[in-house]
Amino acid sequence: MTLFPGVALITGAASGIGRATALAFAISGCQKIAIADRSVEELVQTQDSIAKEAPNAAVETIMVNVAQPESVAAMTARIATRWGRIDYAVNAAGIQGPAQRSTELTLDEFDEINNVNYRGLWLCSRAELAQMLTQTPLPSHDSRPGNRGAIVHIASQLGVVSRSTAPAYCASKSAVISLTRSDAIDYSKENIRINCVCPGLVETPMTQGSSEQRELFASAIATAPMNRMGQPSEIADVCLFLCSSKASFVQGASLLADGGYTIN
Ligand SMILES: NC(=O)c1ccc[n+]([C@@H]2O[C@H](COP(=O)([O-])OP(=O)(O)OC[C@H]3O[C@@H](n4cnc5c(N)ncnc54)[C@H](O)[C@@H]3O)[C@@H](O)[C@H]2O)c1
Repeated sequence: MTLFPGVALITGAASGIGRATALAFAISGCQKIAIADRSVEELVQTQDSIAKEAPNAAVETIMVNVAQPESVAAMTARIATRWGRIDYAVNAAGIQGPAQRSTELTLDEFDEINNVNYRGLWLCSRAELAQMLTQTPLPSHDSRPGNRGAIVHIASQLGVVSRSTAPAYCASKSAVISLTRSDAIDYSKENIRINCVCPGLVETPMTQGSSEQRELFASAIATAPMNRMGQPSEIADVCLFLCSSKASFVQGASLLADGGYTIN
């Protein structure tokens, strides 16, 4: 029996951690998967990978700009029309922005990072919560009571500690951690769980930047006791655990998956 009998939605599913999470749901037996991103061509690649790994999974491919409220509303409405529910939502869409100190960062750059990473994630979460509030809980994998829905945000180790030349990014990720806690308090009584994952450095297109950035990343890798980058599938598995009924008592957590970076 699969741990995922319900409907999954993954934003940022065209690349990196979001794509790996969509694929992990499919491989784990989830049969109804909505993949959403602003990058349509890459989304189709995710869809093809799912079709290869799990031909029986139904996939809804949605173009979304998480920074736009109407686009987010249309995304959840489309899933509601097709499947009537959203049981697991992983909000992975995010951007890094330029490597600059605050005095070099323009207002537009600051706004863009926050419009996607914080405000955009909140828009998605709010729409997902609104749908989940209409649902009855799914049964769990054993006799414990099931949840009405589970949301996982992708924050970052940089929401817990900071690094040089990323003030808006780090702050946006701290905001996600705080939002996770606030919503977890507010929606516990409705039996919805909200948690976040704080990845360390993960090998995705986001971390294949300029040589300057790669230098920063090299020193971050050296700081982490495990002394390596993570793989997207390693973050995906944490997301799946938090979405599953095996995590039925995990609420408002910020789960670090960072090779030990923040303990050093
Ligand atoms: N890679 C890392 O080292 C790392 C570490 C910690 C946290 N994160 C976070 O993990 C998440 C996924 O990052 P990734 O490394 O997979 O990066 P990525 O660049 O590979 O994927 C990000 C995806 O988000 C999508 N996206 C960006 N803006 C969007 C928008 N406005 N609307 C819809 N989709 C949008 C992009 O098109 C892309 O497909 C991000 O939130 C990122 O901040 C990444």
